[in-house]
Amino acid sequence: STPTSLTGKRVVITAGPTREPIDPVRYISNHSSGKMGYALAGAARAAGAHVVLVSGPVSLPAPSGVEVRPVLTAEDMLKAASAAVDEGCDLFIATAAVADYRPDTCAGDKIKKSSEAMSLSLVRNPDTLATIAGRADAPFTVGFAAETTEVARYATDKMQRKKLNMIVANDVSAPGLGFNSENNAVTVFWPGGQESIGPDSKASIARRLVAMIGDQLGKMAD
Ligand code: PMT
Repeated sequence: STPTSLTGKRVVITAGPTREPIDPVRYISNHSSGKMGYALAGAARAAGAHVVLVSGPVSLPAPSGVEVRPVLTAEDMLKAASAAVDEGCDLFIATAAVADYRPDTCAGDKIKKSSEAMSLSLVRNPDTLATIAGRADAPFTVGFAAETTEVARYATDKMQRKKLNMIVANDVSAPGLGFNSENNAVTVFWPGGQESIGPDSKASIARRLVAMIGDQLGKMAD
């Protein structure tokens, strides 16, 4: 096998948005399409990995040979990702755009229109990436960071704070890149280096990322 391949590695990837219910017919979510995470899952599979893809609600077909486990909320995503890591995991990649907050309760019935103003009370969601990276048996962990300003500083802060092996900084302020688009441009940071990739298709960026991750994993094994 090539030095960059993921042959025989067990990989868990999160992708897509989460959906946080307000009442039976409404929710809070975001513009993630899942494309970046699905492209990474396909690239990791093509590099020889066994891939479990924990996916929020998206309208994409499962990449061939990849096991998709669908979830809705951030709490579901944490449970499904933790269970997948419990089954054995060498590499965890978090591309999902998880809602940081959820409504503190989900109304049992549809909320009626009445007063001119209303407010929702929100509570913090659990952080899947920080939870997996903080495990005693943590796999090699790669996070994404979607930022609009000071991308490099916030991304490297996040890498240190969440104890990550690598972070992929996504400038989501650039038009036509990032959320819900075909293309992307990222800068990857790891302790001791950085590399910018793109603008390019998400499939090409995914292949390059998988090669870089394979290199770093290989170095750790040496
Ligand atoms: O899905 P696409 O349309 O293809 O778009 C791709 C993308 C822009 C969504 C993707 O490339 C990306 O940047 N994903 C991260 C989006 C994000 O919400 O970043 P963040 O800075 O809020 O979160 C940082 C990291 O922590 C991410 O790896 C995220 O998955 C993880 N996280 C965050 C909060 C939380 N509760 N749990 C998490 O696991």
